[in-house]
Amino acid sequence: MPDPMPPRTSPSSWDADTLVARYDEVRAHTESLAAPLSPEDQTVQSMPDVSPTKWHRAHVTWFFETFVLAENEPSFTPYQDKYWFLFNSYYEGVGPRYARAERGHITRPGAHDVGLYRHNVDARMRDLVATLDGGALEKLSSTIELGFHHEQQHQELLLMDIKHVLSVNPLQPAYAGTPLTPSEPDPMGWVDVAGGLVEVGHRGGGFSFDNELPLHQQWLEPYRLADRLVTNGEWLRFMADRGYERHELWLSDGWARVGAEGWRAPFYWRQVDGVWFEHTLSGTRPVDPGLPVSHVSHYEADAYATWAGKRLPSEGEWEHAVVADGQAEAPPTGANLADLQTFHPRPAGPPTGHLRQVYGDCWEWTSSAYLAYPGYHPPAGAIGEYNGKFMSGQMVLRGGCALTPPGHARASYRNFFPPGSRWALSGVRLADGGVRS
Ligand SMILES: [Fe+2]
Repeated sequence: MPDPMPPRTSPSSWDADTLVARYDEVRAHTESLAAPLSPEDQTVQSMPDVSPTKWHRAHVTWFFETFVLAENEPSFTPYQDKYWFLFNSYYEGVGPRYARAERGHITRPGAHDVGLYRHNVDARMRDLVATLDGGALEKLSSTIELGFHHEQQHQELLLMDIKHVLSVNPLQPAYAGTPLTPSEPDPMGWVDVAGGLVEVGHRGGGFSFDNELPLHQQWLEPYRLADRLVTNGEWLRFMADRGYERHELWLSDGWARVGAEGWRAPFYWRQVDGVWFEHTLSGTRPVDPGLPVSHVSHYEADAYATWAGKRLPSEGEWEHAVVADGQAEAPPTGANLADLQTFHPRPAGPPTGHLRQVYGDCWEWTSSAYLAYPGYHPPAGAIGEYNGKFMSGQMVLRGGCALTPPGHARASYRNFFPPGSRWALSGVRLADGGVRS
């Protein structure tokens, strides 16, 4: 079992000791997540969207080497000449890179050698920060803090990816996590939201990515949100009502994927002798009707909402409802994020009169295309490629999941995936009323 990562909030300004301590903590947590995996586990790429574990470990290291050391270290020389080519993900401004879909072909450097690369960069990062004075430290700390959050994003991806790697093994090995005892679905209620002229976006205080800015106004008609996520039991009723066979429920592109890829159930479900089983990071087990449905695409989420006579919330509706419900601040203690180490969605629990499962459990698909907020400008230079250039052909998800590091979930956080993606830990919250967008 990996070590839990404690929740942390960002200081308003960093001193060198705090910055190094946070650096060491984030870096050690990545290694803790990889520790249960053998070098062979860490090398496999089971489909093009999945990256090998050792690639994640190396790429987040390359980020610090490229965007911090190369630009600030006196007499910088790369750790290895070709690592910039192997471990650049998508930064055109940095140069060419190895094909994403073929990362699993790379057997050398191995997992051990990636560890040596990490040690080297870690030592140099500590040495560099120790030499910075007040102004230089303040200037560089924002890039280093971006590197922390970048590495945390990859900690989540590492878990999503190894889940798929282990799922294609007929032995169905487990990674970690404790299976939950079977549960009954908790009743679903609704939370009414008045709407009106509301503010959407990061409100200042603490870290945010550029795509959460600027804070801006949106007009929302009155609406309501389901107070919990859609469950496996509800999804089984959708399937029993031929949900995957009725074209009238589906967006055209989604219906094409149903036909082309044979979708008949969520991504990790398999039927054996009439019983549905689900692959999880703690092993394969019968589908539990009380747990949130997970690993469904935006197309499936939308089809389910249509079948239920509801719709998906827009991202503005989702964010405003969370703020109006008094949950804009840090996720509550007990939110099902990665520090609980369930690594899987949990039951909603009894109704509270508030939105349940806001943070953690499953990333929640919205009806919103991933686009720039009014007035958005990406940062200058290669680092400006981080978010802005992906604002095409993707849908926004909100809230975080059971694989999300604590400190990495907030009301304004915008995750995004193509609408056909199913390997991410994604689920469904319904909306009603308002205006479909
Ligand atoms: Fe990355």
